[in-house]
Amino acid sequence: MNDHPSDEELGGLAVTLARGAAEVVRDGRRTALEVTSKSTATDLVTVVDRRSEAWLIGELARLRPDDGVLGEEGGARPGRTGVRWLLDPVDGTVNFVLGIPHYAVSVAAEVDGQVRVGAVCDVALGETFRAVLGGGAYLDDAPLGLAQNARDVPLAAAVVGTGFGYDRDLRRRQGAAVAALLPDVADVRRLGSAALALCYVAAGRLDGYFEAGLHEWDYAAGALVATEAGCVVAGRDGRPAPEFTTATRPALAAPLAELLARTGADAVL
Ligand code: IPD
Repeated sequence: MNDHPSDEELGGLAVTLARGAAEVVRDGRRTALEVTSKSTATDLVTVVDRRSEAWLIGELARLRPDDGVLGEEGGARPGRTGVRWLLDPVDGTVNFVLGIPHYAVSVAAEVDGQVRVGAVCDVALGETFRAVLGGGAYLDDAPLGLAQNARDVPLAAAVVGTGFGYDRDLRRRQGAAVAALLPDVADVRRLGSAALALCYVAAGRLDGYFEAGLHEWDYAAGALVATEAGCVVAGRDGRPAPEFTTATRPALAAPLAELLARTGADAVL
């Protein structure tokens, strides 16, 4: 069966799903958290991550039963329509556990392997970043674009976001790379949600971002938001990928890529 809804339809659904799951997460924060770990002792998951993903998958089963799904907490089902949903039910779980108000629900849909819509809902602030391929990026109802949002500063004055994985040896290499590049930028931020960091580049709240070792559900929606806002989203081979993902406005793309290569930040995996 080949049932491709319009991108606008998929984009609207991505926003509805991200906001609905954000409500589930918000409610969950009011109760005692059951916290366990996943890939390593520092890779946390809560009952709320699982509840949020179950809610998303339940809604998709009801509304788009033949689409494929890939969720961070193990929800996976093959589809028959060419549409696949990439779900991060809580991106920034460590912040969520600590009560740091910086975590989000990220929902993207790809059609025949190409990400076409994405929505990232900041649970605590209630902001929703959204984009449709070729249709621009928005923060709630305000368009996001370089003209409105980006600062025009050289790399030496840029504030650049990054993040670290959960594997100890990877973290050692990531820490060394950040130490090497820190003198060549104004500052570095590790905010704790890759999805939001990409949206923050789109909104001009960060001048750039890079991270190795992300998963598709971490970056699919945020990468589309940043691209549609006019940013260059790339990786080691020019495309965002789990091995390496970067985002910045066009004028900083080459200098940032050069710095990341020179300091080995793009080769920690
Ligand atoms: C993590 C966050 C974090 C990033 C990690 C991700 P999670 O996702 O996005 O900022 O540095 O690489 O795994 O585990 O909170 O969904």
